[in-house]
Amino acid sequence: MLGCGTSCSVTRVQMNADDAARRDLMRQAACVAGAWAASSVLPVAAAGDVQRHPRSLLVDALGRPWQARQLKYGEAFLFNYPYTASPVFLIAFEREVKPVELVTEGKQRYATPAGVGPNKSIVAFSAICAHKLMYPTPAISFIGLRSGGRGEPAHVIHCCGDNSRYDPLQGARVLAGPAPQPLAAVLLEWDAGTDQLHAVGTRGGEMFDAFFEKYAMKLELETGSSLRKASGATTVVQPAASYSKQWRSCSV
Ligand code: FES
Repeated sequence: MLGCGTSCSVTRVQMNADDAARRDLMRQAACVAGAWAASSVLPVAAAGDVQRHPRSLLVDALGRPWQARQLKYGEAFLFNYPYTASPVFLIAFEREVKPVELVTEGKQRYATPAGVGPNKSIVAFSAICAHKLMYPTPAISFIGLRSGGRGEPAHVIHCCGDNSRYDPLQGARVLAGPAPQPLAAVLLEWDAGTDQLHAVGTRGGEMFDAFFEKYAMKLELETGSSLRKASGATTVVQPAASYSKQWRSCSV
């Protein structure tokens, strides 16, 4: 019989970690599905769908694991996930972020992920606007985290394109504007022992097919390739100010 020694142990540990994460996500989905079943008219079959993508460890520009305590409350950071060209907002709030029930443009209901980290307050959302797919580029960004206006939460994600506004404390639901659905949520896992973060998948309305189709030529110019490349084992976190040279301020 062939033995596999250390490599098998490592694989087993990884599988156990993946199983634990999967069980956690299923528990969250089951709780919300139960609530829907008791209270809602929409079908429960699509509840809690998770789009799994390869795990990526969040790291700094030198490749060192990024730690949750490096985030600043109410400030946007960005990383690329699940592809090297698809940007994601990473935001820590001062208070716990709880899951909420939202619906995609295609009428699929889902539970937004709860916040992670020591205060259960760290969330991540795809930075591709759900309206016409504007996104932060290295040169300029029209979509960003800004102060909320009158009657709004303290922070909103605002896309200057056509003034879609999203609430990052409520799963990036649409507050105003023409966006037909919330920003897709990016699932995070936090390791309490190391304070490290992994991105592991998405939930909600992914826009990646339309994004890569629409911007094939632009991405080729910006990144040298229009192909979808998975983020890989690690993805670099940057403050918003470093990710894009110019952040457009836009009035409502
Ligand atoms: S592209 Fe963002 S609101 Fe139109």
